[in-house]
Amino acid sequence: MYLIKMKVFGICGSPRSNTTEYVVKSALEKLESDGFETELFSCFGKDIKPCMHCDYCLENKKCIIEDDMADVYKGLQEADGIILATSIQSGGISSNLAAIMDRTRAFEAVDYNLLRGKIGMSIAVGGDRTGGQDFAHLKNITYFMIHGIIPVSGGPFGSNLGASFWSNDSLDDIKKDEYGMKSLDRTLKEFENFLKKYI
Ligand SMILES: Cc1cc2nc3c(=O)[nH]c(=O)nc-3n(C[C@H](O)[C@H](O)[C@H](O)COP(=O)(O)O)c2cc1C
Repeated sequence: MYLIKMKVFGICGSPRSNTTEYVVKSALEKLESDGFETELFSCFGKDIKPCMHCDYCLENKKCIIEDDMADVYKGLQEADGIILATSIQSGGISSNLAAIMDRTRAFEAVDYNLLRGKIGMSIAVGGDRTGGQDFAHLKNITYFMIHGIIPVSGGPFGSNLGASFWSNDSLDDIKKDEYGMKSLDRTLKEFENFLKKYI
């Protein structure tokens, strides 16, 4: 029993509100029912510009661009646990999620350890069964490691690197992806275990 609820911030990197958002919402609902406070940031309809490598953040300790990234900076900092979810684009993470990752360079300019010790998990949703989900997980896990975030998976037999889904480009079909849902359950279970043990 925790008096102060642990907080999980979920980022949905898809540019639209469809299959990936469905999965992230399912994950956050499960976490809520298990006593966690959750917040979703969906890239759908949001203005997240790419990093310009202007180095303004290195001098001024904040990003020069004023857009919806402000909500992401706040959510990431306040979170105990972070879920990075992406639709697969060109065999890897979405360009929206890549932009978010690059823009957190502003964090490093302020304090290299800002995200250190948080717990992270990855969700990847591809139109194809093997469309690049593992590459997306590896990118998300690499991001976690760069920032000192502890990455968790659901372990062997289907969730080696996180939760992987085959949407067949359809919301109806992803709801039938039982193997994907199992990989999500297993990854969430370990994510919760790590949060309770290390935060
Ligand atoms: C530009 C683009 C590139 C894509 N590339 C891949 C791909 O390489 N592999 C794959 O499995 N699916 C690919 N897809 C399909 C999406 O990953 C799939 O439809 C996914 O369910 C979309 O998630 P969403 O419904 O949350 O937007 C691509 C979709 C787009 C728009």
